[in-house]
Amino acid sequence: MPSNAEQRAWGCICKDEVQAKFSTLLSILLSAIVAHCGPACAAEVLTGPARIVDGDTLEVAGERVRLLGVDAPEKAQICQDAEGQGYQCGVAVMDALISKVGSLPISCEARSRDMYGRSVSKCSAPGVGDLGTWLVSNGYAVAYRQYSKEYIPLEESAHAAQRGIWAGNFQEPAQWRREQKHGNSTRQNLLPEMPSFSEEQQQLLASQKNRLQQLEEQPKLDHPAECSIKGNISANGKIYHVPGGRAYESVRIDLSSGERWFCSREDAERAGWREAKS
Ligand SMILES: *[C@@H]1O[C@H](CO)[C@@H](O)[C@H](O)[C@H]1NC(C)=O
Ligand SMILES: *[C@@H]1O[C@H](CO)[C@@H](O)[C@H](O)[C@H]1NC(C)=O
Repeated sequence: MPSNAEQRAWGCICKDEVQAKFSTLLSILLSAIVAHCGPACAAEVLTGPARIVDGDTLEVAGERVRLLGVDAPEKAQICQDAEGQGYQCGVAVMDALISKVGSLPISCEARSRDMYGRSVSKCSAPGVGDLGTWLVSNGYAVAYRQYSKEYIPLEESAHAAQRGIWAGNFQEPAQWRREQKHGNSTRQNLLPEMPSFSEEQQQLLASQKNRLQQLEEQPKLDHPAECSIKGNISANGKIYHVPGGRAYESVRIDLSSGERWFCSREDAERAGWREAKS
């Protein structure tokens, strides 16, 4: 069922708008209007290369676009992999989307707007198809049931095949966001369901609590505060800089070009980064 906002959006572009006055018939007419109003009713379409903002948000032609019906882990979210190790699932999903989509021309068709004014769209890329389908069927995002039922079967098969985040444990992104908002620490809420956390993970989760406080003061931080190692990609290759290092302060991290944050030297080395010469 389209939202009120969606109905208004469609209603105002259509010449047949007047029909909407028969308010009791509105919901029946809506589908007819959409089907018949031709080019005048065409939904807003954005095209061009995308900047990947996170696992379910892009910027296309200068506009923020939220993918319809899918919900990917947030950039600061930590999940457990199949071995029970914590990892930055939000960053991993974003990296996967960046590698898949790269600089391909994306086409996004707006279906509505969300409360932040972002267009909520279905987007596709040549050779990839619908990005929501790709994300959900690879286990990089869940079906966002409250907005669409379309991706539920894909989510179920990704879950059954333990793809992506389904290989381990994770918190539903919507739930994670709610708890961030209410100052509820990830640790408190994950522990009862996941009694098998190691010492190290408990420390990681505990440090999340501090990070949450910092996030509140600094809502645009694109990495957990304890993951402050900068993975830069320069002419000399993938070089990481630890806080206090010579060039640390001047290095800027551009996630969309594959640069990223690391939580430890080991993580950085494992991912193929080399430490900067001091
Ligand atoms: C934190 O989460 C728990 C369980 O999910 C809930 O019972 C509690 O009320 C929450 N606390 C706050 C401050 O939101
Ligand atoms: C980081 O990478 C950029 C290119 O992306 C490069 O221009 C810059 O010199 C690098 N910074 C350091 C300190 O190596």
